[in-house]
Amino acid sequence: SFQPTPADKFSFGLWTVGWQGRDPFGDATRPALDPVESVTRLAELGAHGVTFHDDDLIPFGASQSEREGHIKRFRQALDSTGIVVPMVTTNLFTHPVFKDGAFTANDRDVRRYALRKTMRNLDLAAELGAETFVAWGGREGAESGGAKDVRAALDRFKEAFDLLAEYVTEQGYGLRFALEPKPNEPRGDILLPTVGHALAFIERLERPELFGVNPEVGHEQMAGLNFPHGIAQALWSGKLFHIDLNGQNGIKYDQDLRFGAGDLRSAFWLVDLLESGGYEGSRHFDFKPPRTEDFDGVWASAAGCMRNYLILKERAAAFRADPAVQEALRASRLDELARPTLQPGESPAALLADRSAFEEFDPEAAGRRGMAFEALDQLATDHLLAAR
Ligand code: GCO
Ligand code: MN
Ligand code: MN
Ligand code: MN
Repeated sequence: SFQPTPADKFSFGLWTVGWQGRDPFGDATRPALDPVESVTRLAELGAHGVTFHDDDLIPFGASQSEREGHIKRFRQALDSTGIVVPMVTTNLFTHPVFKDGAFTANDRDVRRYALRKTMRNLDLAAELGAETFVAWGGREGAESGGAKDVRAALDRFKEAFDLLAEYVTEQGYGLRFALEPKPNEPRGDILLPTVGHALAFIERLERPELFGVNPEVGHEQMAGLNFPHGIAQALWSGKLFHIDLNGQNGIKYDQDLRFGAGDLRSAFWLVDLLESGGYEGSRHFDFKPPRTEDFDGVWASAAGCMRNYLILKERAAAFRADPAVQEALRASRLDELARPTLQPGESPAALLADRSAFEEFDPEAAGRRGMAFEALDQLATDHLLAAR
């Protein structure tokens, strides 16, 4: 039975199940969903958390008393269901004021406003006990070359994150930031387009320890990249602070399909990695139930995300436990990859003195050795398809 429980740490954005199906060519196909209803339904389905943009919970432009009313109702729903808020994020992309970006908008007054909107939302995130604050810079980019001085924009991006990190430190908030890369859409080209760009950017910040990444399956795949490889590098760097799980079919518009749709083989390796790689955060779904669906379809889609994760988790565990797989891994010399190339403390001089490494090494013989990867991958396929 692939029935999720809160121990599985599944979470959903309010904007996912609440997406009304508006796209560049068509109007909404579903009415708005009350955040309280989303919390209740997600709890019934077995989720542990909800996440939101400020504007998902408190409509843009709400008065202070309206704001307090929305937060109060939401808190009551959290308390009565036991649903937690592991992550909060800021909408810096919907309102026309952000049409040229927020932290990297050419207009300085827009940048200062974006910082204030974000600081206000950091206060709310801390108040609700969130641990992670996601920053997706969907409008930080350009459609044409002259419109953005990218080096200046990166200076402004750094300035913004340094200020926000100073603020959470001063306030004593236990929040860490997770930057979410995306190559394009809604801008023609977006800054920090991939996990690799974001990891490099983080090292230029004043408090890099407060920053990690929030990679989204479809976003890396929109750039033709191998998502599990990006996740592995983020884990290796100690920077996988959060994750957005969904589905995508190759290089095209951001599909935000439910998790397990799209590239299923990649999803298998991803779950295998998350479950064995020490990732302890929420398994967060950032998907959009297609606009063909009514609310039954929305909840079926949300349930499908969790069910597919649990199926893949079981399939990955079966793969790892299979003695034939363990033998195939040895035949493919994964154990040898895990062994350091050098002896402990071996110096360049010692390597130069090792005749077996060069003078007596037979590259022709080594070049003839098969790697046995095909047999290994077929075992993975068999397990993925439950044929073993
Ligand atoms: C997308 C993005 C967004 C962000 C979210 C958080 O699909 O382009 O994933 O959904 O994750 O807005 O800011
Ligand atoms: Mn996302
Ligand atoms: Mn997306
Ligand atoms: Mn999304």
